Amino acid sequence: MATRGLEGVVAAQTSISRVLGQDGRLIYRGYDIEDLAEHASFEEVCHLLWYGDLPDQAALDRLHGRLMEGAQLGSPAVEVVRHAPAGTHPMAILRSAVSALAFTDSDVEDNSAEANERKAIRLTAETVALTAAIERVRRGRDPVDPDPALGLGANLLYMMSGRAPDELHARIMDVALTLHAEHGMNASTFAARVTAGTMADMHSAVTSAIGTLKGPLHGGANERVMRMLQEVAEPGRAAEWVRGALERGEKVMGFGHRVYRTLDPRAPILRELASELAGRGGDQRWLEVSEGIRTAMGEEMEKRQKQIYPNVDFFSASVYFTMGIPMDLFTNLFACARMAGWTAHVMEQHADNRLIRPKGEYVGPEDRKAVPIGQR
Ligand code: COA
Repeated sequence: MATRGLEGVVAAQTSISRVLGQDGRLIYRGYDIEDLAEHASFEEVCHLLWYGDLPDQAALDRLHGRLMEGAQLGSPAVEVVRHAPAGTHPMAILRSAVSALAFTDSDVEDNSAEANERKAIRLTAETVALTAAIERVRRGRDPVDPDPALGLGANLLYMMSGRAPDELHARIMDVALTLHAEHGMNASTFAARVTAGTMADMHSAVTSAIGTLKGPLHGGANERVMRMLQEVAEPGRAAEWVRGALERGEKVMGFGHRVYRTLDPRAPILRELASELAGRGGDQRWLEVSEGIRTAMGEEMEKRQKQIYPNVDFFSASVYFTMGIPMDLFTNLFACARMAGWTAHVMEQHADNRLIRPKGEYVGPEDRKAVPIGQR
């Protein structure tokens, strides 16, 4: 019997992360996400995901240097960004540009552990640089090189705007990247592992993953959340709006999760950052509208006896928007973070590979006979 959406199916063993859906816990290599968000930078988290341990200062400095080198883009990928027709979605550009990175990566066809490690670092840095380049090029500006004095998260903001971000924005971006870096066998990671499972190269695997992340039921939800907040516009309109959406049978973006049956542990961390941002002179409005929708959804779900809670995308939307990031780039930010997790999973898959090939349950017609085209 087929399990719809592979719910509950264990597809692989992994030592990268653990998602405890009943308890609302997310754990990267033994560390709770709250602990990492408070005590480690995104670059440290990348080290943890790729090598299994948090770095000491010397190891972090080495990794930082390699990330900064990787964030200096070469030609074919930037040309993809420059030639994308106006109005192309930034995730579509990113998908094609990351694929084009393979043209000039000297390790591209090498699936050894050493080459994969080099590619994981480069791809993560390049995804940040490409996301920033997409934003700059569409505004008629040239891409800028990273500032080695800043971490990768702060560089994402710097390379988009050309100005060093303030301390709060830099910290928020860094924490947001940490929260989005890894999440077990989610759809895009699974896609990456399926591709890697054919012993295709890392660039092919992460290109599959970016295409998968783009969908509104996965990474694309954060952009939709912001569109919803704009549509609702006032906290006082939230209850009526939510009721209307549910009566029409629509899903409310930023709520629900396949694994969590309680609050997504990343949501309160982002909620806290949203409130800090609002408290420091940022626009309060989107946080207030978010709270209105959260309360209304809570009441409606209780009436319907459903365990549907805010997920990571619910508060990331207002945080990014208040920081001045264009809505259609939100999913690209998710990709910048998740590249660290995808590449860790490709390494794990290649290190102990077996082709991933499930079966389908056939429910179509039987025993038909083909007749020549003139007799049909
Ligand atoms: N709003 C309203 N109802 C929701 C809902 C939401 N966001 N998410 C789930 N539900 C309801 C479904 O309608 C369904 O109700 P039913 O049993 O009466 O048919 C029930 O809860 C189970 O939902 P289902 O779609 O089967 O869950 P899933 O595990 O297949 O899907 C998601 C999980 C994440 C795809 C789904 O919750 C969703 O579409 N959420 C919105 C998009 C989003 O925020 N994605 C980001 C995830 S991090």
